Amino acid sequence: MSYEEFREQLVDRIEEKLEWRDLATFVPNKKTPIYNWFYYKEGFAKELVEKLLEMFEIKEGATALDPFCGSGTTLLVCKEKSIKSVGYDVLPVSVFATRVKTADYDTDLLRENMQIISRARFAQLNTKGKFPGIFYRAFSKYALEDIAFLRSMIIHLDREVREFFVLALMNAAIKCSYTYKDGSVIKIKKKHVAPLRKMFRHVVSKMIRDIEKSPRTEASIRVELEDARSLDLDDNSVDVVITSPPYLNNIDYTKVYSIEEYFIYGEPVPGVRAYIGLQAKDSDFLSEIPLPIQARLYFEDMNKVLQELYRVLKKDGHAAIVVGNGYVRRSVASSTSQNASHSEDVNEVIESDIILAYLAAELGFEVEKILVLNKRFALEDRTVKKGVLRESLLILKK
Ligand SMILES: C[S@@+](CC[C@H](N)C(=O)[O-])C[C@H]1O[C@@H](n2cnc3c(N)ncnc32)[C@H](O)[C@@H]1O
Repeated sequence: MSYEEFREQLVDRIEEKLEWRDLATFVPNKKTPIYNWFYYKEGFAKELVEKLLEMFEIKEGATALDPFCGSGTTLLVCKEKSIKSVGYDVLPVSVFATRVKTADYDTDLLRENMQIISRARFAQLNTKGKFPGIFYRAFSKYALEDIAFLRSMIIHLDREVREFFVLALMNAAIKCSYTYKDGSVIKIKKKHVAPLRKMFRHVVSKMIRDIEKSPRTEASIRVELEDARSLDLDDNSVDVVITSPPYLNNIDYTKVYSIEEYFIYGEPVPGVRAYIGLQAKDSDFLSEIPLPIQARLYFEDMNKVLQELYRVLKKDGHAAIVVGNGYVRRSVASSTSQNASHSEDVNEVIESDIILAYLAAELGFEVEKILVLNKRFALEDRTVKKGVLRESLLILKK
């Protein structure tokens, strides 16, 4: 079936569900214990995963997959509901945060370690040239000294306890930094910030209390630093997929989370070139649809992911995929020009939800519906309205 025919037939399966608008965002997680241990602007809400598990009637003992696990929301909900889960991501800080959030802890041991750290005599370490350049703009001199000192205390702890404290330090440091995230860039704004060591103690105490009041089960969890285009999973082994890939107006996550990444490795992480749609190459994928090259690359990559999802899902299993439409620049032949070879750049809305549904259908999925969770205007120069961008939930069935 051609794309245009598919698009026409799909119309009655597109439904608005704008009352779920907030669930496509990380905002509700900001107040939820453990879910908020790592602020992930691109994440979705715990309640969305809960609603989907219920909608697909996923029971204890089933296996769920999130191939773009981000801050680990899908896996954490599954852990609470005795559902086994597997998560992948190519961003080290995502895999790290997901692992720490879903691990089991002995809270007495965490408290003992916190006491040792709190009682230790503060040593003023040399911070000159010890951090990546951005740290000297992102933090005050005192915050840098605290980071150096606390790191020196944490680094020798056993792995699981250490990772817990590293995440706490990362959290506390971000709260005491001059940075904020604006789309795909980190911005700096000097302001009054709390003393970092005090913030660290506060964050650790809160995290320990969070563990004590959160429901946990024995459900197994596997989180790997892997590429979603090739999954290390058996055919027909997964009951449900709940995920959200990077969107087409792609964000280089390695840049946005470069400060957080330092806390894991103690050095800047080399850029990963394995991100969906970010490679510089040519493609004639989906040549029947007029698309700019970055969109072709994006859909070519996403097609590989959909192929993998189809392979690993059990028969009748569902995949729920949250995706936003893109607004990208494309070169088109100019009609006003006398010169036939003349072209101009125009911005266009790319209906990623419908194109991904088309690719999924071509691979054998049944497209049950597309739920539109959010709509906003695509803006030219931040003011002129140029069409509507949807954020949608694709419901696919194998
Ligand atoms: C929209 S976010 C997912 C957010 C997640 N649903 C949550 O609630 O936190 C997309 C994620 O895909 C990851 N990613 C990008 N390219 C990838 C690839 N090739 N394989 C696996 N993960 C990838 C990014 O690092 C990012 O964490």
